[in-house]
Amino acid sequence: MTYAGNPENLRDIENNPRYKFIKGDICDEKLVNEIISSEKPDGVINFAAETHVDRSILDSYSFVKTDVLGTQTLLDVSKKYNVSRYLHISTDEIYGSIEKGSFSEESLLNPSNPYSASKASADLIVKSYFITYKTPVLITRSSNNFGPFQYPEKIIPLFITNLLENKKIPLYGDGLNIRDWLYVLDNCQAIDLVFHKGKEGQIYNVGSGNELTNLDLTKLILETMGKDEKSIEYVKDRPGHDRRYSLDYTKIKKELGWQPKYDFKKALIETINWYKENKDWWQKIKSGEYLEYYKKQYLER
Ligand code: TYD
Repeated sequence: MTYAGNPENLRDIENNPRYKFIKGDICDEKLVNEIISSEKPDGVINFAAETHVDRSILDSYSFVKTDVLGTQTLLDVSKKYNVSRYLHISTDEIYGSIEKGSFSEESLLNPSNPYSASKASADLIVKSYFITYKTPVLITRSSNNFGPFQYPEKIIPLFITNLLENKKIPLYGDGLNIRDWLYVLDNCQAIDLVFHKGKEGQIYNVGSGNELTNLDLTKLILETMGKDEKSIEYVKDRPGHDRRYSLDYTKIKKELGWQPKYDFKKALIETINWYKENKDWWQKIKSGEYLEYYKKQYLER
């Protein structure tokens, strides 16, 4: 429950008997001990992380704390109670930038900013638990996700919601940085498959082959929303901005038979429609109303 957490995202499963919400910090070893010893989970899947590059440039502390120390705490407790499966959600950003070709799971980790450096550190710790203690870990390294419920700080939801508010959209630098866009449901299927069928100690890249410059992505969003390039505001570049991310995901295709199913353009249109139909969700976040609610609910207790 940091600023990006939102109980509304899980409203549709709120009453499912297989779902339980416990508010806590993954760095809180006592609480994590209590939960794992009492719930006796079949497995642990760690999605918890600080994820926004621009925020990590302004303040890296919470990134190192949650992404590195939180991972280490979850791992330690999972080891203590012999959890039979531990899946760590990592990212393609830990490989750093690549001008030509694509990174495989064996490529060197070469992160450029405090966010990707914290995720690279977490990734290495997870792998070390397999080598040292035989903890049954698995790692997925996915490319940039998009889809409904994405916090409007990331480029796609930020641009869609700004355009719905008739605001400008801030494109960094020359707009020619390249990202590989993966629809969230494809990523979920990959995660589910790796959790159930992946080989212990293994890393799986999850890419989509939808590489686009930010400018082409922006043009596609503008066109779909009936806007023109006058809405673009070219702004100062992000420091240390990675030029291109690219994944070779042959391994998950060959070994587990996964491949992305969603057509990129259709998924982008669906995503735009979701933001059009769920204005209440993002307006509360953007206006700061949700932040106030969150502070009252969770920080002032
Ligand atoms: P982002 O969604 O922050 O993901 P990441 O940095 O983890 O890849 O950014 C995606 C790309 O979009 C990245 O090259 C930075 C660029 N970008 C902008 O041009 N303007 C923006 O306002 C944001 C948030 C990102």
